[in-house]
Amino acid sequence: MVSIIVAVAQNGTIGDKNSLLWHISEDMRFFKRTTSGHPVIMGRKTYDSLGRPLPNRTNVVISRTAEHIEGCTIARSLEEAIALFPDHEEIFIIGGAQIYALALEIADRIYITRVEHDYEGDTSFPSWDESKWQLLSRDSYPCGEKYPHPFAFEIYERK
Ligand SMILES: NC(=O)c1ccc[n+]([C@@H]2O[C@H](COP(=O)([O-])OP(=O)(O)OC[C@H]3O[C@@H](n4cnc5c(N)ncnc54)[C@H](OP(=O)(O)O)[C@@H]3O)[C@@H](O)[C@H]2O)c1
Repeated sequence: MVSIIVAVAQNGTIGDKNSLLWHISEDMRFFKRTTSGHPVIMGRKTYDSLGRPLPNRTNVVISRTAEHIEGCTIARSLEEAIALFPDHEEIFIIGGAQIYALALEIADRIYITRVEHDYEGDTSFPSWDESKWQLLSRDSYPCGEKYPHPFAFEIYERK
């Protein structure tokens, strides 16, 4: 099973200058809890923004150019990355925009954190046809312990 996991601002942005636009501890914990023990697949730029492999997860980096990244497997395409794992495994596509655009065609599930605030950024989540997806759950918060704006965790499955 292929799952996308992403945090998206109200105006669609997901990042700027190869970094995140907000810090929401609850979202960091949700991401860690959801993806730990599962493979994570990311674009080379997202890997650069993290700067290290994520612990307790098999890390796959998609790149046309990179030869070796310590602690990661390199794949030349999304298909090659997904083929590394058995079908029953839940594989998480963790960004960025270029890799989400490819993954939206084939993903079974989307875990989306809706950050209910506008942020200026140079990278946005690709447009997706929400009518083709069924909302399974929504867990909303008026603010975080240290974050002032509302946000919600939503899970969608392809209809
Ligand atoms: N809010 C969130 O949840 C979230 C999550 C993740 C990332 N982000 C943000 O997203 C931004 C990065 O996203 P991005 O779209 O610029 O980059 P990206 O998708 O992370 O990585 C792009 C790179 O992936 C490789 N690639 C892309 N398509 C490929 C293909 N078809 N075949 C082989 N390799 C391919 C290329 O690597 P090479 O150049 O090495 O060939 C390309 O430069 C950052 O700002 C980051 O902070 C946000």
